[in-house]
Amino acid sequence: MMMGLKDKRILITGASSGIGAGMARVLAREGCRLVLHYNRNEVGIKATVEAVKSIRSEVEVEIIRCDFSELDTLSEFFNQAWSIYEGLDGLVNNAGVVSKVTARKDAAGEAFMQTLKINLHAPYLLSTAFAEKCITAKQPGAIVNNSSIHGQATCEWFSAYAASKAGLDAVSKVQAVEWGQYQIRVNVLAPGVVPVERTDTILNEPSMAQKWHERIPAGRYGTTEEMGEATAYLLSDATAWMTGSVLTLDGGLIARGNYPNR
Ligand SMILES: NC(=O)c1ccc[n+]([C@@H]2O[C@H](COP(=O)([O-])OP(=O)(O)OC[C@H]3O[C@@H](n4cnc5c(N)ncnc54)[C@H](OP(=O)(O)O)[C@@H]3O)[C@@H](O)[C@H]2O)c1
Repeated sequence: MMMGLKDKRILITGASSGIGAGMARVLAREGCRLVLHYNRNEVGIKATVEAVKSIRSEVEVEIIRCDFSELDTLSEFFNQAWSIYEGLDGLVNNAGVVSKVTARKDAAGEAFMQTLKINLHAPYLLSTAFAEKCITAKQPGAIVNNSSIHGQATCEWFSAYAASKAGLDAVSKVQAVEWGQYQIRVNVLAPGVVPVERTDTILNEPSMAQKWHERIPAGRYGTTEEMGEATAYLLSDATAWMTGSVLTLDGGLIARGNYPNR
């Protein structure tokens, strides 16, 4: 068990599949009380609820829906989430879209702006709402922003996605600085390649898997459970003095850079 997580009230956005669902499973095991957000995938969020109940039958879990591309609905969404357990101790900004488009195909910047809205503007607003509530309640808080290694090094097609994640890394650092005095911590999880329902088929196709595994020093992809464990760590008292940090979990991919295999 991780220090200080039992009974903590945690909102996880984007918990209807993939990494968010993995985070929910680990935090349920740790004894947290969960508010799980989804947007379109109602079947997925129900499956996450079933999964967390099978891990800990007495888990307290509620679900709540919101489309983050409609930014003016976020304030009401957050207030609802906050009121479920009469407060929250932690916020995990995990929901996001992976937009892959060349700059020339998105010359007007529509995909660019839509990606920034969901991946950067929405977490910014949610974190700010969370901080305001914590400051008013005179309570500490912990925020984990799920970024990506694309915030650090990227490739073709990812101008919108990489900008959103590099922006999230930067905003997290500023918020950590501004809110340190209130004991509100803001840290970043930067995952490498983690197969999820959306990418499972393509990433586990043998030639694709081989290509990736050769480049990842650890020789394999990450798992959604591993992202959940790191999130639990960042929310726990084990990291009570850690804020404004980026925790990269990528099997060594970024450390290795683009050097040819020897
Ligand atoms: N998998 C990876 O390799 C990887 C690597 C680095 C970073 N990440 C990051 O991890 C996070 C989770 O992604 P994932 O890979 O687990 O993919 P995923 O399974 O597709 O999960 C994405 C989640 O975001 C939610 N979402 C998407 N658009 C939304 C919107 N407009 N409003 C509100 N919620 C929305 C989805 O909700 P619904 O489906 O219910 O609509 C879903 O719960 C993302 O921030 C992603 O950038 C993933």
